[in-house]
Amino acid sequence: MSCHKSYITTPIYYVNDVAHIGHAYTTIIADTLARYARLINQDTFFLTGTDEHGQKIEEAAKNRGKATQEYADEISAKFKNLWDEFDISYDKFIRTTDKEHKIGVQKAFSVMYQNGDIYKDKYKGHYCISCEAFFPETQLVDGEFCPDCGKLTSIVEEESYFFRLSKYQDKLLEWYRDNPQCILPKSKRNEVIRFVEGGLNDLSITRTSFDWGVKLPKEFNDPKHVIYVWLDALMNYVTALGYGTDEANMEFWPARVHLIGKDILRFHAVYWPSFLMSLGLPLPKHIGAHGWWTRNGEKMSKSKGNVVNPKEVADAYGLENFRYFMLREVPFGGDGDFSQRALIDRINSDLGNDLGNLLNRLIGMSGKYFDGLVESNLVKEFYRKELDEVNSSISKLEPLLFELQLHKYLEELWRPLTIANRAIDKYQPWSMIKEGKRDETMALNGLIATILAKVSIMLHAVMPKSTNIIANALGFEINPKSFNHIIREDKILAPFKTKKREPLFPRIEKELLEEKKPQEEKKEIKKEPKTLTLIGIDKFFETSLKIGTVVEAKEVKKSKKLLLLQVDIGEDRPRQIVAGIKEWYSVDDILNKQVCVVANLKPAKLMGLKSEGMLLAAKDSSGLSLIIPEKPKVNGTPIS
Ligand code: ME8
Ligand code: MG
Repeated sequence: MSCHKSYITTPIYYVNDVAHIGHAYTTIIADTLARYARLINQDTFFLTGTDEHGQKIEEAAKNRGKATQEYADEISAKFKNLWDEFDISYDKFIRTTDKEHKIGVQKAFSVMYQNGDIYKDKYKGHYCISCEAFFPETQLVDGEFCPDCGKLTSIVEEESYFFRLSKYQDKLLEWYRDNPQCILPKSKRNEVIRFVEGGLNDLSITRTSFDWGVKLPKEFNDPKHVIYVWLDALMNYVTALGYGTDEANMEFWPARVHLIGKDILRFHAVYWPSFLMSLGLPLPKHIGAHGWWTRNGEKMSKSKGNVVNPKEVADAYGLENFRYFMLREVPFGGDGDFSQRALIDRINSDLGNDLGNLLNRLIGMSGKYFDGLVESNLVKEFYRKELDEVNSSISKLEPLLFELQLHKYLEELWRPLTIANRAIDKYQPWSMIKEGKRDETMALNGLIATILAKVSIMLHAVMPKSTNIIANALGFEINPKSFNHIIREDKILAPFKTKKREPLFPRIEKELLEEKKPQEEKKEIKKEPKTLTLIGIDKFFETSLKIGTVVEAKEVKKSKKLLLLQVDIGEDRPRQIVAGIKEWYSVDDILNKQVCVVANLKPAKLMGLKSEGMLLAAKDSSGLSLIIPEKPKVNGTPIS
């Protein structure tokens, strides 16, 4: 597992949303690996950033009535601030709207073209804006819903440049076969292999229906195309190192690991290596795909209104406790349910009892028997067996970390703590001291100090500040040098004196964050339901929909929302309709407009006024729009 350069990345997050604990999880794993790599003196580069192009971002900005760049600036800054508040030790924060990035993407497009991997054709197919992905008809659910997220797809028919993905099928399969660790965990690799064996279609890599993206290189002379957001985004991993501009940092390539969630595995494990092969660049060493954080079993997402804000959790429970919990609680690759109860249990039991309390016991015993002094020179003489067991655990750790088995890493790291706590119970220093066994007692304290030192060094990447406090209490500093001495060479800890201190991980008795009530959480625009109830055509025709014209419009007194309309739908007299549209349409706006009317609704009374129908409208976060016929139609024309 030796490798001198360690390039570690997170996904670049979309700026259509603010960060939740899912984003924090990926970033914290990456940060842990980067910190560990630095601690063992590897030349480390840690990248994170934001993904800012594409139709989804353009629409998100529009919905908020903002210029796209201004909107992207705002959300990107929120991500960056959060990572700064979280002490994330990134070396670079890339934005896909950075000039250097765009130049790099354009260069890649030219190189792929020169290598014969890009051709122009027509694309007709289905596109999911939420996933920014194309799907063949055969993969859609019920012929029109996205197989990944369940949202409605739209049919795209446009001229497009294609990438010859099909050409790389065999090379990809060879790569997966020859590198059993290329995708972690291994079960995920099997999924990818099955997918690729199923056959690959060439990939549409430009769009013409919107603007917010990287333009094709000038020599293509084709200004209506922008580069597909996933080609743009994936390229960040090399443009951040200067690909296409100042290439000095390209010596960090290939990445040691791209950390991602399982939602974007196909892009990273199929498209990205193909792009790299086309560019003649080496492939990443590992792609690590973790699972979902859920709430009550459901994937956390803004549209479900069940997201947990990582800042609130960290503020309430402590950032490092939160980091420990996330890494310890869930096996990498599996899903995990977030609950305050589970977090509290980890803090009280693992951190409070096993770790924090051990330090306190050491401080207590050394204070009572030796005036605070701790010496470790006799540990090997009296406690060889315990020390050997500890070292055997410690030596298993590093491979677990780089195989991304972080929960096992932490589980194994807790064994030495158990050994220490058991040794105290077994040897009973309070009796030994009475029997005059001062050397044995001092050596036992030395054993505990040695164990705490080793554990705090190996825990440092997960909990940098807390472990610095422990090291400080043991009279040393955590750095590559002490790592070598204490971990690699098993050198003895220098004598030191302990002092009384506040407990490191005070016990938490009750949940510190109030659970949000469902209705507070859910101030969301209605989304397409994930599964639709199918109806027959006759059921649809039970609703009578007709074109009408608003022939009279008045305000409803005392109502902020309602307008009183008379709508001619081709009957002998106009229908009276009370419509809740005043926030978006004035009397003048609506008068003489053609509208779509539900004509067979049971009459209702609103603020004392009879309403004999309903207008069709669509509402999202930017407001409400009436549905209006595209060409004028005779009043009463049925809609079907
Ligand atoms: O996909 N549980 O960005 P994104 C765990 N821009 N992790 C989660 C999660 C959850 N509930 N929700 C999100 C994109 N994540 C692209 C990436 S990379 C070249 C382009 C994490 O903002 C997880 O890492 O949708 C997931 O892969 C990522 O956020 C998706 O972030
Ligand atoms: Mg996403």
